[in-house]
Amino acid sequence: MSAPIGVFDSGYGGLTVLKALEKALPEYDFLYLGDNARTPYGTRSFDVVYEYTLQAVKYLFSHNCPLVIIACNTASAKALRSIQQLNLPNIAPEKRVLGVIRPSVEKVAEITKNGHVGILGTVGTVISESYPIELKKWSGGRVKSTVQESCPMWVPIVENNDIETEGAEFFIKRNIGNILQKDKNLDTLILGCTHYPLLSKIIRKFVPDKIRILEQGEIVAEKLVDYLQRHPEIEDKLSKTGNVSFQTTESEKIFESKASLFLGREVKAQHIRF
Ligand code: DGL
Repeated sequence: MSAPIGVFDSGYGGLTVLKALEKALPEYDFLYLGDNARTPYGTRSFDVVYEYTLQAVKYLFSHNCPLVIIACNTASAKALRSIQQLNLPNIAPEKRVLGVIRPSVEKVAEITKNGHVGILGTVGTVISESYPIELKKWSGGRVKSTVQESCPMWVPIVENNDIETEGAEFFIKRNIGNILQKDKNLDTLILGCTHYPLLSKIIRKFVPDKIRILEQGEIVAEKLVDYLQRHPEIEDKLSKTGNVSFQTTESEKIFESKASLFLGREVKAQHIRF
């Protein structure tokens, strides 16, 4: 039996990844799950993020998804490795769970010219040090310096749809100013949270043109296309009718109105409980 690709995020941010996945793989089916009732994850402890993410992955597995994309940096940073190494062999050895950090790291290594990289992320992602560790491990020595800045207000701004406000500008300007101070030679800035592309217009206002800003949607999509070509045993199990469905731990009405705004089209959602 074939089934959709599961896409999970703490809230609406993963929609930026889903949008790119739909574009790159239009014939595939996707099941998007937003844990909107418990968002944000960025300020929560390692144990809590791990517990919530594992619940979500198990839920998507119970809906037969052969492959789950954790479209959330915080969950990728704090839970992915444990799920892959400790849980997957016991609960579903034939299934796969992938995250968003490794593809982003590989892309940065391909494009940075001077090796000075900045990472904007949630408190959880920054504290985990996942990006500096993975960049050191997977960039083949191309990344020479990494600086990070946590932006705790950015996810709530997106979740509450306060994007086009003076308040949003205030916090974005402050965080960008901080990271530019930390390294004056930055050539690449990673938006290390899937919510942040929704703020990209304002972010660009405060980042000099010579600095490349990396959004993860297209990167994750490009790497997934490649992954599916290399893994026919997973690809064969994916359903392909071009259907995308949405589930949320919040009320479906709230999800539908905001998700439509972020995706630019009407969506129907279903409320679920783990
Ligand atoms: N989209 C999640 C991320 O990429 C948001 C984090 C949150 O829920 O705080 O990190």
